[in-house]
Amino acid sequence: MASKITKAVIPAAGLGTRFLPATKAMPKEMLPVVDKPAIQYVVEEAVAAGLTDILMITGRNKNALENHFDRVGELEATLERKGDTERLEKVNYSTDLADVHYVRQGDPKGLGHAVLRAAMHVGDVPFAVLLGDDIIDSRDILLSRMIDVQGERNASVVALLEVDPSQTHMYGIATVEPTDDPDIVHITGLVEKPAAGTAPSNLAVIGRYVLRPEIFGILEHTAPGKGGEIQLTDALQELAENDIAGGVYGVVFRGRRYDTGDRLDYIKAIVQLAVDRDDLGKALRPWLRDFVSKMD
Ligand code: UTP
Repeated sequence: MASKITKAVIPAAGLGTRFLPATKAMPKEMLPVVDKPAIQYVVEEAVAAGLTDILMITGRNKNALENHFDRVGELEATLERKGDTERLEKVNYSTDLADVHYVRQGDPKGLGHAVLRAAMHVGDVPFAVLLGDDIIDSRDILLSRMIDVQGERNASVVALLEVDPSQTHMYGIATVEPTDDPDIVHITGLVEKPAAGTAPSNLAVIGRYVLRPEIFGILEHTAPGKGGEIQLTDALQELAENDIAGGVYGVVFRGRRYDTGDRLDYIKAIVQLAVDRDDLGKALRPWLRDFVSKMD
């Protein structure tokens, strides 16, 4: 039986240019989605899937990220003095969530380069990668399924989402063949952000991966690709087309996913999560209906 995966790598060192100026002095992963920073949803998802050893790849402005998962003595003391146990619990929750380690990326040379920074910490075992600005709704199952598939097939596994053909130029896109399971495909090729009309399918790679450690050796020689960045997609393409280290499989995800690094998706995420919340939904839903009814 495959040994249990416990390590998660969360890259959070991108420049977040689509969200400027909000991300001028703060990582986009710290933008609040209702009342929690995006990164906390991601860490919670990792922990829920049994990944308790977390390595965050940070860049400039890393302090906010580190502080969020650390104690804040003054704040805790004030809440304690006021007897505000509910808020105190919320503050302590993010501190006690997991064992979080940090490594700097230095220059943000791309997602592949960020993942390579995890090589020392991960060592020679399979591990998960969760992009720090990509939220998977906790009511939908993805990561634990990917971990199971990794164990069963002894391969690397990516998450795939069917996107509209007009969107394929924004993602890594997979060439696939079916397996005996309708939700799992064998990936024979991957291309990063194909030009309009050239995508091999409409199955887009989204921000969850469960990888075999052989990916590190490939990333070491992966040349800069699209946008001059070292692309994780290019390294996975090498695994896929040569069927190295078990090749690459995709789990097709049909649940709710929010790309909080994109302004429109960010707004949608807040609305969708807030309408379903016990504490906010009751007041928000009628307001939203009224607001929409007045729109032309
Ligand atoms: P994105 O491409 O969405 O991040 O990377 P970005 O470059 O910050 O975005 P824009 O286009 O400028 O707005 C996906 C994930 O990979 C991380 C990001 O932090 C994000 O979580 N990343 C990206 C790194 O950690 N390092 C990099 O060099 C690039």
